[in-house]
Amino acid sequence: MEKRELLYEGKAKKVFKTNDPDLLIVDYKDDATAWNGEKKGTIPGKGAVNNRMTNYIFRILEEKGIPTHYVQELSDRETVVKKVKILPLEVIVRNAAAGSFSKRLAVEEGLELLNPTVEFCYKDDRLGDPLIDASYMPALGIASQTEMNKMVEYALTINEILMPFLEEKKLRLVDFKLEFGRYMDQIILADEISPDTCRLWDTETNDKMDKDRFRQDLGEVEEAYIEVARRLGL
Ligand code: TMP
Repeated sequence: MEKRELLYEGKAKKVFKTNDPDLLIVDYKDDATAWNGEKKGTIPGKGAVNNRMTNYIFRILEEKGIPTHYVQELSDRETVVKKVKILPLEVIVRNAAAGSFSKRLAVEEGLELLNPTVEFCYKDDRLGDPLIDASYMPALGIASQTEMNKMVEYALTINEILMPFLEEKKLRLVDFKLEFGRYMDQIILADEISPDTCRLWDTETNDKMDKDRFRQDLGEVEEAYIEVARRLGL
């Protein structure tokens, strides 16, 4: 696999072309941003933790029948992935109230929800990634009804797989964000599943073990990422 020119640089990752037009190389950075880019920083070691954790989880999901963009881990920070057309959506699953959910509805952080919820946000930095009603997506041509149904089905199945898996590692999966892409007319899971994109609380102490430590200036950010990787055996 030959790494060629930079195709795209995002807030947390760089994406490179390869000698194969259907494959890309993702390179995870230690850079962190929050609040739509207002807060910037670095979390040493984050790139490697997120790369290894994402790949570990994506391999488990593939085994359980969820199609993903994962192809091969190249190094601590680099992974070969299928080239997909990313849908401009964040698909958020919640098991307990936190973050924007708690704020919007004035619900106490940590309140266990009676059932998992799935919501969609429209990815647009200028708008601050607003929550989008399900009926808007087919109406605007962002995703078809069939694609939406598939994303909800995959999101809930992923939650069913990850919740008990993480619970065993003494991590409570409060919520998480997924991104999907189109690959040969199919919807497949892309992007990452990591402490950047999940809320993970220690099951005993309720300590936050995710990017909220950075967002909320809680300290020991680097240590939290490393501890999550350690609990996963990575
Ligand atoms: P929220 O409560 O701020 O809406 O976040 C819900 C989950 O989605 C949380 O686990 C963090 C994750 N998330 C991202 O990965 N990227 C984002 O841009 C946002 C807003 C949330």
